[in-house]
Amino acid sequence: MIRPILLTGASGFVGSEVLCELYRMGLGGRVHLFLRKHPDEKSLISLRFRDANIKTDELTARTHLVDLQDEKAFLKALEDLAIISQEWIVIHLAAVINAKGDLKTQEEVNFKRTTQLISWANKNAKSFIYTSSVVAFGATPTPIIRNEESYPKYHFLNKLDGYSLSKRKAHDEILKTSKINTCILCPGIIHGAYEHAKSSRTHLKKILEDKVNWLPSGGGAFVSLEYVASEIILSALNEPLDSELKVKVLAEACLPYTNYLNLYRESAGLKTKNFKKIPHFFLWFAAAIYSLLKLFKIEISIFSKLIQAQMFYYFETLSTQEEGIQIIFKAMKESLNSKIPAVELDQTTNTLNQPK
Ligand SMILES: NC(=O)c1ccc[n+]([C@@H]2O[C@H](COP(=O)([O-])OP(=O)(O)OC[C@H]3O[C@@H](n4cnc5c(N)ncnc54)[C@H](OP(=O)(O)O)[C@@H]3O)[C@@H](O)[C@H]2O)c1
Repeated sequence: MIRPILLTGASGFVGSEVLCELYRMGLGGRVHLFLRKHPDEKSLISLRFRDANIKTDELTARTHLVDLQDEKAFLKALEDLAIISQEWIVIHLAAVINAKGDLKTQEEVNFKRTTQLISWANKNAKSFIYTSSVVAFGATPTPIIRNEESYPKYHFLNKLDGYSLSKRKAHDEILKTSKINTCILCPGIIHGAYEHAKSSRTHLKKILEDKVNWLPSGGGAFVSLEYVASEIILSALNEPLDSELKVKVLAEACLPYTNYLNLYRESAGLKTKNFKKIPHFFLWFAAAIYSLLKLFKIEISIFSKLIQAQMFYYFETLSTQEEGIQIIFKAMKESLNSKIPAVELDQTTNTLNQPK
């Protein structure tokens, strides 16, 4: 049975790779996109398609221009899709990733739209694939290794930042309401080609420029884009006889932030550095001050940042730690080697030069 695929977030770091891979597999003609605007020469979709030698021209016909902050337009677009088929495969990747600010937009896009999408999918789709995150599990104050069963053990110190909370709320809602075949994938920090285009990765540039000396003493889970994209596609194409509801953590290596960022330096051919670690007791110091201020309804973001930075996102991995590190190292190198070409204005013809 050939089912149409609805992909949200295709212009993003992960979505553009998933889209490109679906095209490589010859499934591109089945994909409908929810995008805010058509891809231009500089967009990740165009760059990945250029690298894979695939043409983007025919994407337009199945692109639905929808801003997820516009609830009315979103619901209307879904209504239109329900006319095309009631056996959609939904791959929902769109999200606002901004740990620092604009909680309202994150709540609206990451939580509310996901709630509406799963509700629509329950009636009009066969499968629902959602990228949650390890942040939905929350971190722990000590480096214990956790797995998918650890989801209910949510430490109270995690209830801090808007992005993580919106991801957890959406994740919970899917667990509660899904009636169709559903896969909730939870990647760690994803590395791969073009990641340096992401606005949430500006610290990586500073690491390479030697502008960072102090690092958090916590650690994280890391995974390659290739693995995440292939898990998304495998889950989307999997058709179990009975509906399944699966949660899957995607992590290839778990490392203290100091080792992780030195790995990034090494992948760029730079010498490793003796980063200083912010002492771990700052976690409890910051937590005490944070709680005290909260009693008086005062929020000072430095304390919540200090808490988060000292926590650990450590999860079970499929491969050995050494293999995982090699995979992440390769993905970091790919990221550094992927060149985002400048699109320049040709002064004589007043047109934009296409990237080669
Ligand atoms: N990258 C990671 O390390 C990581 C780790 C764990 C989980 N995840 C999850 O994986 C998913 C994809 O992440 P990513 O790294 O690909 O993020 P990204 O590069 O920031 O892409 C986000 C996507 O969401 C779309 N989007 C945001 N606001 C929108 C709106 N109002 N209307 C329509 N589309 C909107 C963006 O469209 P525009 O191009 O128009 O902005 C873009 O396509 C997210 O759900 C994220 O939470 C990512």
